[in-house]
Order: sequence, then C-alpha cells, then structure tokens
Amino acid sequence: MTIGVKLETRNLKPEIPKLEKVPEHVAVIMDGNGRWANERGLPRLKGHEEGAQSVLAVLKAAKESGVNYLTLYAFSTENWNRPKDEVDGLMTLLATFMQKHARELLKNKIRLRVMGEVDRLPKAVQAGLIKLMKQSEKGYERTLIVALSYGSRKEIAESAKAIARKAAAGELDPETVTEETVAQHLYLPDVPDPELMIRTSGELRLSNFLLWQLSYAELYVTETYWPDFREKEFFQALESFGKRGRRFGGVVTQ
Ligand code: IPE
Ligand code: IPE
Ligand code: MG
Repeated sequence: MTIGVKLETRNLKPEIPKLEKVPEHVAVIMDGNGRWANERGLPRLKGHEEGAQSVLAVLKAAKESGVNYLTLYAFSTENWNRPKDEVDGLMTLLATFMQKHARELLKNKIRLRVMGEVDRLPKAVQAGLIKLMKQSEKGYERTLIVALSYGSRKEIAESAKAIARKAAAGELDPETVTEETVAQHLYLPDVPDPELMIRTSGELRLSNFLLWQLSYAELYVTETYWPDFREKEFFQALESFGKRGRRFGGVVTQ
C-alpha cells in the first residue's frame, strides 16, 4: 500500500493525541533493525526492509501531527565499516525505496533534502536523490531530511574549513566569528534545530548525530526497535515532548 493511499483513504488509527505543543523539527536515530531481524532468525537486511516501512509510517504520523521537518539518520560515516554485503544491501534498499515512493512523496508535498557526504554514495543512489530533491524543491509543505553518510564531527570540521578559507581569502575577519557563523556553514543552515530527538532500540548515545544542532533538544529514547516504531510510537514521543519543561538554562516558570 502506498502512503498516498494511506494518507487519504484509511481511517487514522491510532488516534492522533491532543498535543499541547508540537515540535517544528523532529530528528530520529533509526536504530535496532539488525536486532529486530536477529530475534526473528532473519538476515539483518530484512530488518532494514521492515525499517523502511516504519519510515512511511512516521512520515504519515509527522504529517498528521503537524511536524514540519523530519530528519532521519539513515547511514552514518561509521556505517561504511560494516560488512560489504550489508552496505551494498542498504544502498540498494535506498535506491529502490526512492524509486518506489517518489510519486507519493511528491503528491504529499514533501521536500526531500539530504545531509552528508552524498558524493560517497553509489552513483545510482546519488542520481535518484538529486532527481527527487530537484523535483520536490518547489510547492512543498513539509521537509524530509535524510542523513546519509553523515557524521556530525565531519560536518562541523567542514564548517570550520569553509570559515577558515574565507578568512584566508580576506573575506571574513576571524574576530567576527560567532556561533551563528559556525551554524551558517553547516550542511543545512536554513533548517531550524530539532526540538525533539528520538532514538529507538534503547541505546543512550548520539552516535555522531547532529552534535551541534541537538544542543538543547529534548531526548526521547525508546526500547522499541525501529521496525516496530510506527504511528502510535511516534505520537507517544510527541506526547512526552509536550510534557517537558524546556528551560534553556533559565528557571522553572510553571
Ligand atoms: C539501524 O539499525 C540502521 C542503520 C544503522 C543503517 P542497525 O543496523 O544499527 O541495527 P542494530 O543496532 O544492529 O540492531
Ligand atoms: C546510528 O546507529 C546510525 C544510524 C541509525 C544510521 P548505529 O547502530 O550505527 O550506532 P552505534 O554503532 O550503535 O553507535
Ligand atoms: Mg545500531
């Protein structure tokens, strides 16, 4: 079933909870595909395939709840160190997923953006991504950001490099460099920082994900493996976010 069909014709189940506040931007570390498969005696790639279904479910839930930016950590710079079979399988899955769902993404007015070392990806994957990014850059309502071959330290180092280049060229005075300057040289400077970061499968770490952008994000970790993380689980994370008192270093006001 396509998400286009799901979004339009299927009764919404589970119910969207009444949310006190909805984050503008949610970032997700989609983890636990391998363990999900292992526990079922299946190859790891089956876990990744089932995880792709969760991507569709979460896209739908994000639309229904009014989240405007969704960033999904799909492949880290460190994930290149996995066995070749798994890396190849993941790249093929990515290409197939895009081909299969491009139309629904466009129909649902979702803009695709990518952050990471796109040039390290197989040519066919790059071509598919570039095509869909171009097709979706106008007339969109929400943004899906996929972190691919992404590493936060690399991103920050690239920002430092770009700033240093400008300084060396005399275009920028080093004394004027602020937090804002660093942020403006990251991969997607126009995207607001995520207010909520979800990690599935229980690991209590960031794994080199958005270290700069998550400075003040609320963290939500669930034991649920990514392939089992669907609409209901996404709404639960939003409900938890709604109850958080965000203070940004200030004092409690409520
Ligand atoms: C997340 O699931 C997907 C990617 C990192 C590509 P994992 O493949 O890391 O699954 P586990 O952590 O081994 O269970
Ligand atoms: C983080 O998961 C990367 C993605 C979800 C794409 P990992 O499974 O690679 O992270 P670690 O190895 O548990 O830190
Ligand atoms: Mg993992």
